[in-house]
Amino acid sequence: MAVALTAGTAVAVIGAGTMGSGIAHVAARAGHPVALFDAQPAALAKARAAIEKDLAFLVSKGRMADEDAKATLARIRTVSTLSELADAGLVVEAIVEDRDAKRALFRELEGIVAEHAILASNTSSISITDIAAGLKHPGRVVGMHFFNPVPRMALVEVIDGLQTDGVVAEALLATSRAWGKTPVRAKSTPGFIVNRVARPYYGEAMRTLTERAAPSALLDALLRECGGFPMGPCELMDLIGLDVNLAVTTSTFHALGFDRRYAPSLIQQELVRSGRHGRKSGAGFFTYGEGAAAPEIPSELACAAPAAVTAPTHAGPLEPLLARMTANGVSVARLSLDDSAIHVGSARLALTDGRTATRRAAEEGTPHFVTLDLALDFEKTRRVAVARADQCGDAEYEGVVGALQAAGCVVSRVDDIAGMVVMRIVAMLANEAADVVTQGIASAADADTAMRLGTNYPIGPLAWADRLGAKLVAEVLDNLRAHFGEERYRVSPALQRRRWSGGTFHE
Ligand code: NAI
Repeated sequence: MAVALTAGTAVAVIGAGTMGSGIAHVAARAGHPVALFDAQPAALAKARAAIEKDLAFLVSKGRMADEDAKATLARIRTVSTLSELADAGLVVEAIVEDRDAKRALFRELEGIVAEHAILASNTSSISITDIAAGLKHPGRVVGMHFFNPVPRMALVEVIDGLQTDGVVAEALLATSRAWGKTPVRAKSTPGFIVNRVARPYYGEAMRTLTERAAPSALLDALLRECGGFPMGPCELMDLIGLDVNLAVTTSTFHALGFDRRYAPSLIQQELVRSGRHGRKSGAGFFTYGEGAAAPEIPSELACAAPAAVTAPTHAGPLEPLLARMTANGVSVARLSLDDSAIHVGSARLALTDGRTATRRAAEEGTPHFVTLDLALDFEKTRRVAVARADQCGDAEYEGVVGALQAAGCVVSRVDDIAGMVVMRIVAMLANEAADVVTQGIASAADADTAMRLGTNYPIGPLAWADRLGAKLVAEVLDNLRAHFGEERYRVSPALQRRRWSGGTFHE
């Protein structure tokens, strides 16, 4: 099958809605003659107007020459029948997300386009194998999953169905690059890469809310300010629409055989039942609209800084905090201990390992135990979160808070839940990405690229696991599993291997 696409290859886009208009735009910008079809003629005019507006914006910002914009628009023709797409070398389908509608369309296309034409679907949740089943040439059916808004989002997931011909997927990888995109390759599985690996960002966050770890505003602040994520999970679900997010979660849960790890949260179901669908309905986790006050983010009051703290020779991830304390006048004495905690008087401060502070206080023989949540960068983080053991005294706790404040951090306290908030969510994201690798759905490099570009995560979950060490991530998950007695926290085989070999996901 001859599948190499050139800029001269005619591209057909079917469905001229949000996604189809964006796909037509980028294909035409790359030089292809584009034919755009929609079952609703009104959608075609709307799409053309939207593309024209996007191009005018690029021209106004000096990112595109006026003549290029005009030429791009001139390459897009709208058509009123499918038979006008006969010359297409690539068809990208972006119609309604309905399996039967997509199958019917592909069957009809088989009778119209040439045998070598590639048939791509922009579906976000339907199996490519399923769409291709029953066609005369299922090998040319492939997923080409763009992200919204298409002209601005760099990522394209190229999806192989069970019968997709390898050269077809490879041709689309090359085509995506030629269109200025960064493609990743994945096998057709529920959620593909991005929508699958991102599930814990919502699900695990809501678990911590169920355990009343922190109010939603603090939870979001921790993921943003400590975790470096562009948006917190609650505000993000409010933006996506709680109903839409719940529908994706539910379909993933069903498609993955009712694995409890993907079970929808009762909190979310209740919000949806009450009509609180997020921003679009004026309320979700937060309230919106005129007069809605910005939610308060709780933090600890100022505590006196200790004159000195004691730390092990190698404090691992907490080393930058010690440097910040030193820079602000706290003297740091070094001890050669196995213990990785920072000692503030008789209190100990340690990065969470998945156990509660209360359990560590009991197991490590000191009542005054405080755990610290994960931060992406302890050198720069403005906020840190702590959890206090039930046995910890007030004065000892305040000493630890004072030491962290002396490092220049705003300190927020979360309830003493196992694994805290950022560590727990990051460990679950890394575990999910590790399962994608285990199951051969995507490479580690592609899984991380997809999460960085598809969701703007600060670094890929597997790069984060490499940075923390597979040993720590697996230990956090093991401790969570022991704490809750739930399968949900089972360690992915790909993470297990690296835990014992000391290997990493990336070189
Ligand atoms: P949309 O509702 O904005 O546009 C769909 C268009 O398809 C409409 O103009 C409709 O008239 C047309 N249409 C429906 N059935 C048709 C048929 N049988 N033949 C021809 N035209 C038909 O939908 P949107 O958001 O653009 O989504 C399209 C596809 O892209 C869906 O499969 C969706 O899951 C997927 N997708 C959507 C993303 C998003 O953020 N909106 C992101 C990635 C994928």
